[in-house]
Amino acid sequence: MPDRTPCIAANWKMHKTVAEAGEFVDALLPRIAATQHDVVICPPFTALSAVVERRYGTAVKVAAQNMHEEDSGAFTGEVSAPMLVELDVEAVVLGHSERRQYFGEADEALARKVPAALAAGLEPILCVGESEEARDAGQTEGVLERRLQADLAEVEDDRIAEVVIAYEPIWAIGTGRTATPEQAQEACAFIRDVLRERGAAADAVRILYGGSVKPANAAELLSQADIDGALVGGASLDPEEFAQIVESA
Ligand code: PGA
Repeated sequence: MPDRTPCIAANWKMHKTVAEAGEFVDALLPRIAATQHDVVICPPFTALSAVVERRYGTAVKVAAQNMHEEDSGAFTGEVSAPMLVELDVEAVVLGHSERRQYFGEADEALARKVPAALAAGLEPILCVGESEEARDAGQTEGVLERRLQADLAEVEDDRIAEVVIAYEPIWAIGTGRTATPEQAQEACAFIRDVLRERGAAADAVRILYGGSVKPANAAELLSQADIDGALVGGASLDPEEFAQIVESA
């Protein structure tokens, strides 16, 4: 089985000014100096450069929280993959449930964004997850499979292992309700099976869990066989808490 380097990502959402981002990185770096994991910080667009500049020579990678699928054009308010690459950003979160829910992000756009990110040299972190209603109706696997098939439709099979998948049950995001380690493992193993059926090198794909990850629950979630890391929202805003999560991986 290929080695999957654990990946712990901080999704700051619409939090932190440039000054606050700088303070966070300065506080975080000494706390994670010894880590062998991939540590990814996803700041708002405005703070990308500040984080990039401070992290050179460290284990920290920088990801944007969204991008447009075209390289350039008349798309007011949007940012493209080449623009992110120019800043030395290495990755991009795509299809977060907040973007799907509040900004109408559709599978059709994601089917173009994922290959556009890969083509530009960005590592896509594709988020998929079910609503509470879907889980209660026993539709979790159906939702995950549909999303993966739609969003990865245009990615060549031999490049799927370059995509990081984040399993993020919507009912667990920002609610303090974490999926149990068993629920999270079951969904992540299912995601790996779907990728395997597509002919991908599924054992090489990193699958993260996201949804109310905190220092108190991280170790147990991250010890599951098919969970290769975490996408952390609220608890990633504090350098001490986030460093504890990195350590528990
Ligand atoms: P949360 O957010 O950790 O605050 O639940 C996770 C996410 O939205 O990625």
